[in-house]
Amino acid sequence: MKFFIDTANLAQIKEANELGILDGVTTNPSLMAKEGIKGQDAVMQHYKTICEMVDGDISAEVISTDFDGIIEEGKKLAAIHKNIVVKVPMIKDGVKAIKWFTENGIRTNCTLVFSAGQAILAAKAGATYVSPFIGRVDDTGWDGMDLIYQLRQIFDIQGFKTEILAASIRNPNHITKCAEAGADVCTCPLDSILGLLKHPLTDIGLAKFLEDAKKTA
Ligand code: E4P
Repeated sequence: MKFFIDTANLAQIKEANELGILDGVTTNPSLMAKEGIKGQDAVMQHYKTICEMVDGDISAEVISTDFDGIIEEGKKLAAIHKNIVVKVPMIKDGVKAIKWFTENGIRTNCTLVFSAGQAILAAKAGATYVSPFIGRVDDTGWDGMDLIYQLRQIFDIQGFKTEILAASIRNPNHITKCAEAGADVCTCPLDSILGLLKHPLTDIGLAKFLEDAKKTA
């Protein structure tokens, strides 16, 4: 399973990258706004900076919702760097645009996916990635992880090449469950990635080893 970091924060991207396990980055308009990025030039420059920091796929989201607008915006984003993946919302014009991008050699990430039906449409249109939002499904009282299991089964049976990119990750347990369910990629906040490191028995064991090491010094 590939690890992406789900942020537009450069310090967090750097920290995850230095861990040596980072395969890419996903952003969205909310994450960009959180970093105070304002204006089209600043947005484009921010994506460029991320591309120069991380050698992996970088998802950059369009904000247009009509076919022509999505295509125009997506072409500009894709021109920033070869690793840019154009993130397109799961709407009717979005599906049409994903098909167009696929036919024109531009890779896509279909975002805001909450059902198997939506994921099938994205895969049929040729999306490179489809992003089911686990945490937001959980928030509604349903089990977001069921969607990952269901998509893995459908995509394998149907031979879809689209990668399942589990998004809206809220904790380390989500990550291990995604790996178990067969997600191709998990995009996570830095806290959830670092949370994987933690186990109380590791801390207790290390303290004891270091204490005993003093006896051998
Ligand atoms: C990533 O591609 C998604 O935009 C992101 O994971 C959404 O996460 P959230 O539900 O925590 O906002």
